Amino acid sequence: MLSLWAMQTQMPRFPKLQEDIRTDVLVIGGGMAGILCAWFLKRAGVECVLAEGGALCGWNTGNTTAKVTSQHGLLYDELVRKEGMETAGLYLAANLSAVEQYAKLCQKLGSPFERRDSYVYSVNDQGRLEKEMGALEKLGYRAQFSDALRLPFSVVGGVRFADQGQIDPLDLASRLVKDLTVYERTGIREIAKEGAVTDDGRRIEADQYIVATHFPFWNRHGLYFMKMYQQRSYCIALEGAQDVEGMYVDEAANGFSFRSAGRYLLVGGGGHRTGKEGGCWQQLRQFAGRFYPKAKEVCSWAAQDCMTLDRIPYIGRYAKHLPGVWTATGFNKWGMTSSMVAAQILTDEILGKESPFARVFDPSRAMRKGPLLRNGMEAAGNLLALSKKRCPHLGCALKWNGAEHSWDCPCHGSRFSAEGMLLDNPATDKL
Ligand code: FES
Repeated sequence: MLSLWAMQTQMPRFPKLQEDIRTDVLVIGGGMAGILCAWFLKRAGVECVLAEGGALCGWNTGNTTAKVTSQHGLLYDELVRKEGMETAGLYLAANLSAVEQYAKLCQKLGSPFERRDSYVYSVNDQGRLEKEMGALEKLGYRAQFSDALRLPFSVVGGVRFADQGQIDPLDLASRLVKDLTVYERTGIREIAKEGAVTDDGRRIEADQYIVATHFPFWNRHGLYFMKMYQQRSYCIALEGAQDVEGMYVDEAANGFSFRSAGRYLLVGGGGHRTGKEGGCWQQLRQFAGRFYPKAKEVCSWAAQDCMTLDRIPYIGRYAKHLPGVWTATGFNKWGMTSSMVAAQILTDEILGKESPFARVFDPSRAMRKGPLLRNGMEAAGNLLALSKKRCPHLGCALKWNGAEHSWDCPCHGSRFSAEGMLLDNPATDKL
């Protein structure tokens, strides 16, 4: 199923690597995070190669709703309470800066960047919205409370961040990659002392490596399989639905999200942990039938997101004692904004500048025991479950996903087609 972006933009194609090469920085993974890292590094004069195992933006960047905002659900009240004012403030500042970086970049490259207000709304819990407003006030950010939202159902209100943005991810990516050295169909198997090794046994030697492969593929370091899981969410594009004039997400986990894209309205929702049951497109279609009965669905697609246990992405050194290897992952459904945060932090780090935000996103930061234990128990249950279909990543039992006709892994989110082809990592092999 093609997303609206993929229907509108054909990404440029690049060759497969056919020889051993050397570069200053190898970026592994050709989604928005990897592309932005390569682009900013190249602009700073660093020689950079980007290697993508499939096609550029063929995984999640092509399937995002492409909201660019520093408002990530009702996050700041939780961050202030659990991580403290300093961390919450730096997280906010990093994301506000990312929004402005997109605005500048899109203007420079001639790609659309539309200023839009972003809202988190609630249908019945004004208290949660008020707590978020309180946390934002403490952080010195002027959010507004609004009870007149352009949604087709009644809400108790919404927290508004003014002047955020929305982009067309493939239009922007297609412009960014024009001047980059890119190899497609060039999957990286491992990073050895002598360089990164491709699926075909070619070597790319580099001084530094950035792993931007959505879910990091290297299990030996960093323990990402313990501190992340994946979530699927669904989207439909409607023609003939009223413009909501903003970007909206529900504070409730099973709610809907909205944004316009030209003459279309994108409605998202139906999400669930990968490998579990959820509302999928059916829930979206029921909603659209009720609230937009005259609108026509023009396309539908699904996205997959890496979720961290403290709701903060992992951006920085892949592992504490692993020099020269960096990663950017765990974007918690805010992939476009977090990709820019990652590009800013990793470019600074590689250039030897101190990023003011690096500490907040450090992948080696301490994790709370409760969420770690719960995530570990979930994986353990699926490891012990009886099933003939086992995931080649770490051996968990796969579940059949009837809505998408795929075998999905509830442990860390790898997915496979009915024929066994790899659809989503961290697995690197087909069934
Ligand atoms: Fe890790 Fe399946 S994705 S075991």
